[in-house]
Amino acid sequence: MKIVLIHGQNHKGSSYHMGRMLADKLAEEKDITEFFLPRDLNHFCLGCYSCIEDETKCPYWSEKKIILDALEQADLFILTTPNYCLAPSGAMKSFLDLLFDCWMVHRPKEWMFTKRAVVFSASAGAPCKKAMQPIKDSLFYWGVTYIKTYGLPVQAMNWDMVKPERKAKIEKEIDHIASKIDCSKPPLIGFKTNFIFNIMKMTHVKGWDSSPVEKDYWQERGWLGKTRPWKK
Ligand SMILES: Cc1cc2nc3c(=O)[nH]c(=O)nc-3n(C[C@H](O)[C@H](O)[C@H](O)COP(=O)(O)O)c2cc1C
Repeated sequence: MKIVLIHGQNHKGSSYHMGRMLADKLAEEKDITEFFLPRDLNHFCLGCYSCIEDETKCPYWSEKKIILDALEQADLFILTTPNYCLAPSGAMKSFLDLLFDCWMVHRPKEWMFTKRAVVFSASAGAPCKKAMQPIKDSLFYWGVTYIKTYGLPVQAMNWDMVKPERKAKIEKEIDHIASKIDCSKPPLIGFKTNFIFNIMKMTHVKGWDSSPVEKDYWQERGWLGKTRPWKK
């Protein structure tokens, strides 16, 4: 199983260790690729909309492409972020913004519909849902249908400070997540993905695209008819 981890932080804290624990349970070192943000993509979206016409026109395309190529090769994505002010880290949010042209409403990538993802977040004490939700939303609108989340208040500022009994609980729960992940067959396409894809198709049929390039993209792939990216 090939795994790509995208960490919304440069440091190796609790969020990092939780994500890495899952990766180590599922794959060998040679099949694990890690990106750290902002180290590996240190930019904010400028809102120039160049990507809407052509993804390679994004000013940060060369760095984005490295991450996208790795994601395309992966079976499983693991995204980690600390809870910062009840939200994902700024670096993670910037990364998600830079991939907005991959949303189903624009030009989703066929291969996204074959991927699985797990999102991790650590907080000091607050619930982690709000930090993980924007990541979950982007994954869903990129076309990823199998998305699991695991967030935990660890009452710590770093991994060393996390109490041994809490680490044991984390390990047990991550074991359980690992036991459910089987990448030997494509993920099931849920009702929600099917439904949203069809709504997006209608917007392109009606020409409500951000650019005519989007309608052409959908047309070329047969998605304005009965062809679907998850059906071979
Ligand atoms: C800028 C910043 C904002 C934070 N905001 C929150 C918060 O809103 N709620 C919370 O419970 N913890 C908050 N924390 C604490 C971290 O979420 C917590 O220490 C977490 O375990 C750090 O994860 P890491 O080890 O992966 O960096 C914040 C920490 C920082 C540095």
